Amino acid sequence: MSQRVLTTESGAPVADNQNSASAGIGGPLLLQDQHLLEKLARFNRERVPERVVHARGSGAYGHFEVTDDVTDFTHAEFLDTVGKRTEVFVRFSTVADSLGGADAVRDPRGFAVKFYTREGNYDLVGNNTPVFFVKDPIKFPDFIHSQKRDPFTGRQEPDNVWDFWANSPEATHQVTWLMGDRGIPASYRHMDGFGSHTYQWTNAEGEAFYVKYHFKTNQGIRCLSAEQAAEIAGQDPTSHQTDLLQAIERGVHPSWTLHVQLMPVADAAGYRFNPFDVTKVWPHRDYPLRRVGRLVLDRNPDNVFAEVEQAAFSPNNFVPGIGPSPDKMLQGRLFAYADAQRYRLGVNHTRLAVNAPRATTAENYGRDGLMAANSQPRYAKNYEPNSYDGPVETGRPLAAPLAVSGHTGTHAAPQHTKDDDFFQAGELYRLMTEDEKKRLVANIAGGLSQVSRDDVIEKNLAHFHAADPAYGKRVEAAVRALRED
Ligand code: HEM
Repeated sequence: MSQRVLTTESGAPVADNQNSASAGIGGPLLLQDQHLLEKLARFNRERVPERVVHARGSGAYGHFEVTDDVTDFTHAEFLDTVGKRTEVFVRFSTVADSLGGADAVRDPRGFAVKFYTREGNYDLVGNNTPVFFVKDPIKFPDFIHSQKRDPFTGRQEPDNVWDFWANSPEATHQVTWLMGDRGIPASYRHMDGFGSHTYQWTNAEGEAFYVKYHFKTNQGIRCLSAEQAAEIAGQDPTSHQTDLLQAIERGVHPSWTLHVQLMPVADAAGYRFNPFDVTKVWPHRDYPLRRVGRLVLDRNPDNVFAEVEQAAFSPNNFVPGIGPSPDKMLQGRLFAYADAQRYRLGVNHTRLAVNAPRATTAENYGRDGLMAANSQPRYAKNYEPNSYDGPVETGRPLAAPLAVSGHTGTHAAPQHTKDDDFFQAGELYRLMTEDEKKRLVANIAGGLSQVSRDDVIEKNLAHFHAADPAYGKRVEAAVRALRED
């Protein structure tokens, strides 16, 4: 095979890739050295803004296969036949730290799935926890500020983390989750995934159902203790990436079984708590899990930057048969993601290979913008309506309409009989074994005891008391013991 030649960006052969061109042997460098200028300039532009949250992550391709008939509940094409396979790309992530952070940390994990369906890409952008810390998107930037590095100290500050939670009682359920054993998964393969929010499915008759998604890991749940995590994070900050990459390269393909919970739309208004509140789960005794299919990851991306860093998931990418619920957090997310991606990657990020539809093509009149590649036929019109056979609307809404009532305003969520912020945190605590409770209490006390203000500590303790008096008492005793040390 003949030796391949190194070239400049414009394709001209490069004479020397070891020595810059200089004026004389020891002299200053020449502006005419195109290869040097291009190399330095290109290097300076290798980074794009990292994701404002979930910056650090790992991705893989695979497929989703339908194992059970759900056509009574949704007419989504990729779910319409048992045995049908759809290509997927999944990105797992940590949330709070930056791109260079460690994987083995106490933090929720992102679990984002892009289904490349024949009716467009469907993005299910979830976490490894079934609930979230806040329930209104207006609180999200404040929440994230309190968990990321402080603008003055440049560190994650226990004062900020716990101050936000002290003033956000609705976080108690998720805090209990995060401080428990599942707060530090051993790897991305050994954790479940959840859509967390309530979504809406519509069947072929136009009948609507509310739905929650659960991906159950087939590798089994494995978690790390705080001590194990600290050691691993120090030795291999990329431990989750290493694990996923190597498992797939070895041919050990991780898989998850997808289940859903389905609620008839008519149940929602009379349910004992707000079913669109993302700080709460639906008990399985009310809405049992129903199996849908299997997600398998079997191929690593060829290039992490091109395919993982530039991957763009948006909760607003729905396909016919699936739509949003009135969950206020979800509604905020419908805006936030594509907006972040237009800033982070540019308006044409939708045309990148990892983000573009694969089982169909995008056909619209959106044109131009930064980095547009000319992918339109020569005579394609860039306006609609037109008389030239351009693409036209279907007239068929993707999902059933949501009924609304009342007046506009900055309302708190609709009131249901049991909407308090603590009872599910208490139920989660009581489900734990004695050993799990011990570790939960120790983890909370370890963080809370570092807080400098007594009133912030007291407010947090009150939340654990409200969840379960025994839980509150134990956390209080553990915090006091650590502060007296
Ligand atoms: C990433 C906003 C709540 C899961 C992001 C990004 C933004 C964002 C701006 C970065 C997107 C990008 O640059 O590509 C918000 C807002 C929220 C919210 C405004 C609340 C109103 C949630 C919730 C979940 C979640 C409740 C899980 C149930 C994720 C995941 C990613 C992400 C998994 C990473 C996606 C990827 O791998 O590229 N979020 N988020 N977020 N968010 Fe949220």
